[in-house]
Amino acid sequence: MSTEQAKTVIELVDVEKSFGTQKVLDRVNLTVREGTTTVIVGASGQGKSVILKHMLGLVKPDVGKVLVFGEDLARINKKRMNHVRRHFGVLFQNVALFDSMTVYDNIALPLRERTKDSEEEIRRNVEEKLEMLDLQGANEKYPAQISGGMQKRVGLARALVLNPKVVFFDEPTTGLDVNKSNEIYRLFYKTQAQLKYTAVIVSHDVPKIFKLSDYVALLADCKIQGCMSPEEFQLSTNPHIRSFVETTMGPIYSSEMEETDLYETT
Ligand SMILES: Nc1ncnc2c1ncn2[C@@H]1O[C@H](COP(=O)(O)OP(=O)(O)O)[C@@H](O)[C@H]1O
Ligand SMILES: [Mg+2]
Repeated sequence: MSTEQAKTVIELVDVEKSFGTQKVLDRVNLTVREGTTTVIVGASGQGKSVILKHMLGLVKPDVGKVLVFGEDLARINKKRMNHVRRHFGVLFQNVALFDSMTVYDNIALPLRERTKDSEEEIRRNVEEKLEMLDLQGANEKYPAQISGGMQKRVGLARALVLNPKVVFFDEPTTGLDVNKSNEIYRLFYKTQAQLKYTAVIVSHDVPKIFKLSDYVALLADCKIQGCMSPEEFQLSTNPHIRSFVETTMGPIYSSEMEETDLYETT
C-alpha cells in the first residue's frame, strides 16, 4: 500500500494538451507510485480520459512529458512502446468484448496476441483468472449470453491476464447498479491484493473505493488540483476540491455498512 518511498511508475510533467482551440490540460503534473491506487476524479468533460490516454501512449502531449517506468513515451520507438504496454491492463467504460468469441477466448486474446505461451499455459492462466473473478462455468458462453456485471468481470479478467504491473480503469462501474458496482470494486481489491498491481482509476463521481485508495487527484480547470490521501482531500482548502467534496461526496461517508462489505474479500 502507500509508502512515500515507493518507486515512481508514471509521471506527467507539465503536460499541456489542446484539441483545436480547446485547451484540455494545462501544465498537469501527476505522479503514480508503485503498488498504490490513485483515483483521478473530476466532472465529465474535464479531460480525465485524456490523461489516461497520455499514460497509455495513445495521445502525445503538446508540451511536457509523460514518463512510464522512467521512459519518455514521446521518445521511444514502437517496439519499446509495445514492451511498455505489455505491462498494462486496461478496463474501459465500454468493456468491448468480442461478441463472436467465447468468454474463454476473450480472456485468452492478449496472451495469444502478445505472448508465445503454449495453449496449456494459456489454459492455466485463463482458468486462474476465471476463478479469481468468480466466472467459473462461464468460459464457453458468449458475451451476449451473460449479464452486464459479468461482462465487466470478463473485461477485468482480460485486463489482468498478462499479470500487468499497472491497471487502468476508466469509469469501471458506469452503467452498473450499486450492487454490481460494489462487486466490481470488491474484485478490484481482491485481485490487486493477489496480483500487486498499481492501479489508476478514473471516475466522474466519488467511487466506493475512494476511502481505500492511497491518492486522490482532482482534475478541474485543466489542472490537477492536488494529489493527496483521501483524508487530506476531504479537508483540503483548495476551492475546487472543496466544491467537489461538497457537491459529490456527502452521502458516501454515511454508508459505513456498504463500506465494510468491500473489505470482505473472500
Ligand atoms: N480526440 C479528441 N479530439 C477532440 N477533442 C477531444 C478528443 N478527446 C477528448 N476531447 C475533448 O477533451 C475534453 C475532455 O475529454 P475527456 O478526457 O473524455 O473528459 P472526461 O474523461 O473527463 O469526461 C472534452 O471536451 C472532449 O470533447
Ligand atoms: Mg472519460
